[in-house]
Amino acid sequence: MTKKRVAILISGRGSNMRALIEAAKDKNYPAEIVLVISNVAGAGGLEFARQHGIKTEVIEHKKFPSREIFDNAMNVALKKANAEIVALAGFMRLLSPRFVESWRRRMINIHPSLLPAYKGLHTHKRAIEAGEKFHGCTVHFVTPELDDGPTILQAKVPVLPGDTEDALASRVLEQEHKIYPEALRLVAEGKAKI
Ligand code: GAR
Repeated sequence: MTKKRVAILISGRGSNMRALIEAAKDKNYPAEIVLVISNVAGAGGLEFARQHGIKTEVIEHKKFPSREIFDNAMNVALKKANAEIVALAGFMRLLSPRFVESWRRRMINIHPSLLPAYKGLHTHKRAIEAGEKFHGCTVHFVTPELDDGPTILQAKVPVLPGDTEDALASRVLEQEHKIYPEALRLVAEGKAKI
């Protein structure tokens, strides 16, 4: 089996990155993680990736004069690693339309809501405040609009009486760690339906 070469982009703790790295250890998994890029130098996830023998690169957006030039630098790193799929895992930067187009149908993202509901930040707090009965997470193909694009997989969790933002977030995160590896598998196998 030829495995698809996957790069993961992170900005922080990288627990979803970790779930993908763990899944990819299975010899029957159709993807291998070849590179982790962080736009933040101290991102927690970098150490885990290094410990697992995965090449890491820090490309700090603040060192670049524009979004486009930052995105170009990421593209250089992605090309050098021969990446075929890009997985955003808590990567908290908007990407330029040109970059997104160049990875069309080959770039995926995980977002902590049942999209199209609650795009953007503080999704758990907003779902609780709105009195939602259900919340969840979505893996989707990336399009130029924020947290948009065709859904690959979703998982739903109940919002419980008295739920705090943290309690709901951890219930959702548990599901994120399940659906992200599964969604990447579908994409790598060319089985994700649009
Ligand atoms: C995750 O909950 C992910 O869904 C969210 O950031 C968190 C990153 O955690 N992403 C977004 O909000 C993207 N719009 P992680 O670094 O532990 O994977």
